[in-house]
Amino acid sequence: MTVADLPKIELHLHHEGAAPPAFIRQLAHEKRVDLSRIFKSDGSYDFRNFAHFLSVYEAACEVLKSPEDFRRLTLAILEESAANGVVYSETFLSPDFCGGGDLLAWKDYLTAIQDAADEAERKFGITLRGVVTCVRHFGPEQAKRSAHCAAETAGEWITGFGMGGNEAVGAQGDFKWAFECAREAGLRLTTHAGEFGGPESVRDAVRDLGVERVGHGVRAIEDPDLVHELVDRGITLEVCPGSNVVLGLFPDFAAHPIAKLRDAGVKVTVSTDDPPFFHTTMRREYEMLGAAFGWQVEDFAALNETALNAAFCDEETRARVKKRLETS
Ligand code: ADE
Ligand code: ZN
Repeated sequence: MTVADLPKIELHLHHEGAAPPAFIRQLAHEKRVDLSRIFKSDGSYDFRNFAHFLSVYEAACEVLKSPEDFRRLTLAILEESAANGVVYSETFLSPDFCGGGDLLAWKDYLTAIQDAADEAERKFGITLRGVVTCVRHFGPEQAKRSAHCAAETAGEWITGFGMGGNEAVGAQGDFKWAFECAREAGLRLTTHAGEFGGPESVRDAVRDLGVERVGHGVRAIEDPDLVHELVDRGITLEVCPGSNVVLGLFPDFAAHPIAKLRDAGVKVTVSTDDPPFFHTTMRREYEMLGAAFGWQVEDFAALNETALNAAFCDEETRARVKKRLETS
């Protein structure tokens, strides 16, 4: 078996960010919305830098406007993930893009997404769980609405709460209320940090928000004391190497700090973030990491075990997914 053929666990995938450009173009066509500005002539998404990426992402969301759109999207992304060997996935779902923070609307979107997830589990054998995310540059007040939606729908399927968006806006601690609200509802916590923010952003995430996982977190490598703190606290990083390379954090996979972080004892996992934007898949991430660091089947099996242990699912689901990893 090659490393790319291994069964995989993915913990960091933005639901809308996983939309293939052809899917968004088709919806734009059906709804007669002109989105030609966000595509290159070869049909791929067109962005220059991180800030521009976020605005292209939000423009694509302009045509994802109903529960039915999200039902179709969910089926499409789970089929693609399963084709890449993913057996368990957690996706980031934002009430901001699913009803604008209105609880009743959010529940309708969620019903459609869960229906599609059930269908995908039957057809493709992939299990999905949802992590509700607020968007940092939409501000703390909007984040409270998202946290409220998350808390009201917390359970077997919505299992976590987190934050994405532009790290240059505000501080992690500005979102304390939202994270506490989610924690009190029994949700597990993660936040984007140490992607475009430096190591201090990772420290703030862990200390001010009390998260157990960090999205990216890779710039922790700039601060050895912080690396030790991550090891001591048992924090898991949701590392997305291909995303980091395309967005210019590191020139290539060989220069990516994932191997150094792993060797220092940090719990690292591998995900794609927004795969069609970054021209990647889970298969490709494994292939590129194998080529850059000489990682073998045992290394990836260990990454998957770390991911399974850090997954925000219940113990019955974890045991079922563990069996899938062992028997695939
Ligand atoms: N939203 C979607 N992708 C993101 C990323 N890589 N960082 C922050 N927010 C995001
Ligand atoms: Zn992300």
